Amino acid sequence: MSLKNCYNFEDFRKLAKKKLPAPIFHYIDGGADDETTLKRNTNSFDDCDLIPNILRSVGEPDLSTTVFGRKIDMPIFLSPTAMQSLYHPDGDKASARAAEKFGTMYSMSTMASTGFTTPPKFTLESIMNFAMRPGWLFRYFTNKKFELANIKHKTDKGTNITKSVIDYVNEQYDPQMNWEDAEYCIKKWDGPFALKGVMSVEDAKRAVDIGCTAIIISNHGGRQLDGSRTPFDQLKAISDAVGDKLEIILDGGVRRGTHVLKALAAGATACSFGKAFLFSLGAGGQQGVERLLQNMHDEIRRNMILMGCKSVKELDRSKIIYRN
Ligand SMILES: Cc1cc2nc3c(=O)[nH]c(=O)nc-3n(C[C@H](O)[C@H](O)[C@H](O)COP(=O)(O)O)c2cc1C
Repeated sequence: MSLKNCYNFEDFRKLAKKKLPAPIFHYIDGGADDETTLKRNTNSFDDCDLIPNILRSVGEPDLSTTVFGRKIDMPIFLSPTAMQSLYHPDGDKASARAAEKFGTMYSMSTMASTGFTTPPKFTLESIMNFAMRPGWLFRYFTNKKFELANIKHKTDKGTNITKSVIDYVNEQYDPQMNWEDAEYCIKKWDGPFALKGVMSVEDAKRAVDIGCTAIIISNHGGRQLDGSRTPFDQLKAISDAVGDKLEIILDGGVRRGTHVLKALAAGATACSFGKAFLFSLGAGGQQGVERLLQNMHDEIRRNMILMGCKSVKELDRSKIIYRN
């Protein structure tokens, strides 16, 4: 199997599985606890159906939308994800370049990398697994050393680097953080401000009150609170409450162009995705991410034509019906 045979999420996933050592593949693939939320994130899109209109002289549909005050050429962009250099030595640069080529956005994680710092746990099985992927090993040892570029200046560069990076990261997840802190950041930050991880209507309203430009409805890809509601299940209620007051990004479970169409119809301004582009990065670096974005672009375009929609603005509630 090669990149040119990758037509959907599962194809990229399979190719990435072949190329990446198992601990690294599973770091992308896994979710929290029983992975209930991870599975439901994608399955929730099946609880609603698209309703097409015919004879709308669609011509060439306009896929663009505006996110954080900037026009992007397609209504999906790359979510922030940690340690991309694990999946390909070009890491974040490969993803960002691919996104730029398609006129969309790359997001930088605090844990963005340009090399390799936090090693997976080694067992006999995992060592064998690395040994059986000489291509990955060759690229790893012949490329620039892995580092967490955003936080390297904050960590101890001594022998205990792994522990100090983990300590630093843990310190950043401050359980005392509150809405006043977010409001303070908005005041200090002279630009658009998005809150990621908003899941309740109450928090969405609060985000409006403190002056957010956007909210990212997200359970972080089902990697944190297992059993939590999914972004798509929650989108309609949040959009009804605040859809006319800020931008809404749907993040989680997006695998297909039709998922994007359903999210836009339910009230999202745009979508973002993580796993899909990380597998494509692992499968083929920048070229892999470009192929994924091309596939997504083609799927969104084709399905907008089939829906009878000239622009993403025409995707509204009249275009979907919920089964229950
Ligand atoms: C391997 C991996 C690493 C991630 N790292 C981060 C991170 O550093 N910061 C963050 O806010 N979200 C992180 N996420 C969550 C993504 O930003 C995004 O919310 C999630 O991937 C969306 O779900 P999807 O993977 O089903 O598209 C990560 C996700 C994955 C798969």
